[in-house]
Amino acid sequence: MKYKTIIEPFRIKTVEPIRQTTEAERAAAIDAAHYNVFLLRGEDVLIDLLTDSGTGAMSVYQWAGMMKGDETYAGARSYYAFEQAVHDITGFRHVIPTHQGRAAEHILTGAMLKPGDIVPNNRHFDTTRANVEHRGATALDLPIAEGHDPQTLHPFKGNMDLDALERVLRDNPGKVPLVMITVTNNSGGGQPVSMENIRGASAIARRYGVPFYLDACRFAENSWFVHTREPGYADRTPIEIARAMFALADGCTMSAKKDGMANIGGFLAMNDDAVAQRCRNTLILTEGFPTYGGLAGYDLEAIAVGLYEALDPDYLRYRIRMVEYMAEKMATAGIPTVRPAGGHALYLDAKRWLPHIPASEFPGWALSLVLYLEGGIRAAEIGSVMFGQQPDGTERPADLELVRLAFPRRVYTQSHMDYVCEVLMHVNTLASRIRGVRIIEQPAALRHFTAKFAPLVPGVIA
Ligand code: F0G
Repeated sequence: MKYKTIIEPFRIKTVEPIRQTTEAERAAAIDAAHYNVFLLRGEDVLIDLLTDSGTGAMSVYQWAGMMKGDETYAGARSYYAFEQAVHDITGFRHVIPTHQGRAAEHILTGAMLKPGDIVPNNRHFDTTRANVEHRGATALDLPIAEGHDPQTLHPFKGNMDLDALERVLRDNPGKVPLVMITVTNNSGGGQPVSMENIRGASAIARRYGVPFYLDACRFAENSWFVHTREPGYADRTPIEIARAMFALADGCTMSAKKDGMANIGGFLAMNDDAVAQRCRNTLILTEGFPTYGGLAGYDLEAIAVGLYEALDPDYLRYRIRMVEYMAEKMATAGIPTVRPAGGHALYLDAKRWLPHIPASEFPGWALSLVLYLEGGIRAAEIGSVMFGQQPDGTERPADLELVRLAFPRRVYTQSHMDYVCEVLMHVNTLASRIRGVRIIEQPAALRHFTAKFAPLVPGVIA
């Protein structure tokens, strides 16, 4: 390329104002939200990086598609447009729409698992894990060794440990009904998985006669990493890579709120007729008729267009570069992040950044509060608040104390990102003064969404 500036490959046609707040207003808002950013009102947030899921901006072509939405209950034209797009990209015979990713997981695990089973994955996302465990099965994470360390550099840090997969299959005959790989690996830092690794996992699963599924939420971002990092793929387009990747699998679950570029939706797709029949039966019970699966016709149209837009090389180049740009700025400022940069988010390493705060005082959580107080930025803790609470009520510190800044698709511009970097650099000057928090009230599970917190030193976060 002749010029090195990578621009947002779109122009803005509709704008949504965001509201500046004063520090005093933010202090009052976070106090009213019990020091939990999930309990803030969206309007009180300036830059919302809580998630990249369902928060993206749709294109004119998606909106135009929505106007064509066919709301026929059964056999709607919009379903066939959606089915055609999913089939074209994934190649799977059966395409089952769902209202979002976890609904696809719920239906698939119901159709395939029984108590005592084991499901290996490079790393389960929380809802996938919860759905596997809900069936009485064990969700087994098998990341490669490099995946455990935020600082180790590896081009495909999301890869699965294939020797471990082989061992699990060999040692547990009849107990592994499903092998999954999550692309990209969200819980591990948005790290990609190589085609070589997917091919290897697929071959092992086939050798043992076990179906192999992809959790494909960020399949387009993964395809871009393969294009840019894996030998032999520089001349292949993202859509060609995506097709080759899906061809190695027997099916997939998908949240169209990520690389479907939609605000809601998902799907389940597979080749096996009998599994598809079982899934469709449950779908009718829980989501809706098989040609709409809990979605409106216009949602199906938005996804049918969005899946292709997510694979556009100009879009992917800009998207992945933006995260890398942020990570480079952090490295220059000496702010520790998970390395290398992932696909959809920047992960701050709170354990290294705030070594004076022990896990029991939740450094990542405290950091998420400081980001809000100092800059109106909302980010999610992925650490001991999210993972520390054990089913028996005890506490176990998480492996990593991370704060995830996830980037909505096509929503924020370069200057928003420069602002976020400036706030982070300012927070760096306060780092040694940041204090921990304690929990004053919490539910029995998934506490990060609703728990109430207080600063350890009353009124003082930093
Ligand atoms: N799988 C992965 C890898 C995910 O990241 C998510 C959602 C899901 C499945 C579930 O999809 O939300 O449509 O039901 N991740 C969001 C996030 C919530 O913020 O990372 P869903």
